Amino acid sequence: MFRLTTTPHDLGPDFLQDQHRAFALLRETGPVRQILTPQGQRMWMVTRYQEARDALTDPALSKDIHTARARFDPYTLAVAGLELGGALSEHMLNTDPPEHTRLRRQIGRAFTSRRVRELRPRIEQIAATLLDDLAALGEADLLSVYAFPLPITVICELLGVPKEDQDDFRSWSTAMARLNSEQAGAAAMAIAGYLGQLIAAKRAAPSDDLLSDLITAEDDPLNDREMLAMAFLLLVAGHETTVNLIGNAVLALDQNPGQRDLLRTRPELLPSAIEEFLRYDGPITLATVRFALRATEIGGTPIPENDFVLISLAGANRDDRRFPHGEHLRVDQDATGHLAFGHGAHHCVGAPLARLEAEIALRALFTRFPHLTVSPASTLHWRGAMLLHGLETLPVRV
Ligand code: HEM
Repeated sequence: MFRLTTTPHDLGPDFLQDQHRAFALLRETGPVRQILTPQGQRMWMVTRYQEARDALTDPALSKDIHTARARFDPYTLAVAGLELGGALSEHMLNTDPPEHTRLRRQIGRAFTSRRVRELRPRIEQIAATLLDDLAALGEADLLSVYAFPLPITVICELLGVPKEDQDDFRSWSTAMARLNSEQAGAAAMAIAGYLGQLIAAKRAAPSDDLLSDLITAEDDPLNDREMLAMAFLLLVAGHETTVNLIGNAVLALDQNPGQRDLLRTRPELLPSAIEEFLRYDGPITLATVRFALRATEIGGTPIPENDFVLISLAGANRDDRRFPHGEHLRVDQDATGHLAFGHGAHHCVGAPLARLEAEIALRALFTRFPHLTVSPASTLHWRGAMLLHGLETLPVRV
């Protein structure tokens, strides 16, 4: 998928199928390298831990969509993943301070730890119901039966999508995440239309959910355009990431039976194991694209103004300069400090919810099916998305 431009190394089309080997190679050749994306865009790629962490807080590396629109042509913006069109692109993750600070303050007030804590019984209930389906099947794709429906149902509850609309919402979201770009674009439009109506309905009659809290904020509340962008971001950022966390964790345990035994005999390790799953094979390969507002440097390499920078969270998380057991899964080791949720101003807002969902999902799964195995005959295939890291399917037998 990526080609190195300054060495004969060609990472080739199989890059995504073996990304950790590719990042190990890149880490050894330097902290930052130029690569060509599949669309032929030249970008810098950062793969070492310290440089990745520094780049995530470098104010010269911008995410601001308005500045980007002024500097780049629409094609460049679209292939860099910055432009989805209109308000949908103007979300918090595509802004810099001080605009970012204002949006983040509002979501911080609404997405409280109380709201996350209160979701626990509901998440347990959703998990149990989905596991009934899995039990009835005996053999199934764990992603489509369990890992995929769980977080989208949770996001519906969080946003306050009424029960009768949740099936529609789930199928649009699945289409957006799993189908080709034309179908995905149509599904994104359907979701945006639905969210617009939902926001209007909550304005008319607020209830006890996150959208209503955003709407009724007294101090500097978001306008409708900002609300739509925020709701859409929560959905996009919170769905497939969580699917991949659950899927990648189940795979990692299947491939490391010693670690699975350790977790079975010491279930209290689960919270630290989740940090290790995030570090070892996290749901996100690369942080979203940044561009140089002005000339800067990364690990001593000059980065010219307007160049694009990709920060490899997956590469940084296996850097043995920071994590001595880098390439190995160790559920009893301290993985804190990993970059799977990003770092700095854009550090994931949903991290507490993602951790809670993963803890409930994995505990419920292995308690109910202690002998669950990944079907030996299955050939595992990683999905072809640049930023996200997750399997196409995960066939299991319970
Ligand atoms: C931002 C990872 C789940 C909402 C981010 C970023 C990362 C990340 C790496 C920063 C991206 C960047 O700087 O370019 C993850 C992972 C998840 C997860 C690994 C699951 C395991 C969630 C959930 C939600 C969520 C469940 C909400 C329902 C957000 C939002 C941002 C964000 C709103 C933007 C924050 C900002 O711009 O200030 N996430 N995320 N995420 N995430 Fe998550």
